Amino acid sequence: MAYETLIVEVENHVALIKLNRPEALNALNSVLLSELAQALKIAEKNDKVRCIVLTGSEKAFAAGADIKEMADKTFVEMFSSDFFGAECKSLLANRKPVIAAVAGYALGGGCELAMMCDFIIAADTAKFGQPEINLGVIAGMGGSQRLTRFVGKSKSMDMHLTGRFMDAEEAERSGLVSRLVPAKKLMEEAMSAAQKIAEKSLLATKAAKEAVDRSYETTLSEGLLFERRLFHSLFATEDQKEGMAAFQEKREAQFRDK
Ligand code: HXC
Repeated sequence: MAYETLIVEVENHVALIKLNRPEALNALNSVLLSELAQALKIAEKNDKVRCIVLTGSEKAFAAGADIKEMADKTFVEMFSSDFFGAECKSLLANRKPVIAAVAGYALGGGCELAMMCDFIIAADTAKFGQPEINLGVIAGMGGSQRLTRFVGKSKSMDMHLTGRFMDAEEAERSGLVSRLVPAKKLMEEAMSAAQKIAEKSLLATKAAKEAVDRSYETTLSEGLLFERRLFHSLFATEDQKEGMAAFQEKREAQFRDK
């Protein structure tokens, strides 16, 4: 499938989706976000794909929503179209693991897009920020909610009110990113994490993703019950039998997603 704003490759059970608007530092316009939603849907339906990696360029993961596209819009246009609401819902509906591999700028909608992924691996060149305040607006794709959950109120408030950028070290220290690697190693690290995930049972992978995501949506006791029930239900799978047999037989498990 050919895209105007993305490059997509599938290799060894991993779909690599690269944002590709170099002339605009991968600014998220409507074409890019709808193509991304489509590419993710195709990856989710493709049985060969077991993990997805989303990345940008060396200079920018994405420098935010496309300011030039938004600048002249009216409230009525933004509200009526629920600007980027459907695209975000579609990205989040994906049940396969999605890793964000971030180098360079991840600002505004770019930072929010990275946070919508399941975890973020950052190059030492990464810079995160919610600089919408400088444009007379605020975050609109989840920044005020997700960044706060990642890094806490004080740091999130600082980022949203001053518009300052957070470098990769601060992002790792604050829990926004799971791993920090030299820029040259970014794709190797992200693809190897994806490969590792691709070797697991996709049933367990999806269950783990649902359980962790639920922790953001519910009380502790409900979340614990949800996790325990999912754990119990995995005993109905062949992959559980295989995983535990392989452990006892001291060999690698061969999962079949059954
Ligand atoms: C449109 C953008 C863009 C953006 C960069 N470009 N960011 N175009 N929307 N968000 C374009 C520039 O206009 C320029 O094209 C080219 O990319 C290179 O950018 P430069 O500014 O020349 O590069 P540099 O000097 O290196 O500065 C990099 C930068 C800066 C610090 C990242 O570009 C910047 O501040 N960008 C805006 C960041 C931002 O405010 N993001 C939040 C957007 S609002 P031309 O052709 O002009 O040379 C948002 C809301 C999300 O994200 C919610 C939506 C629902």
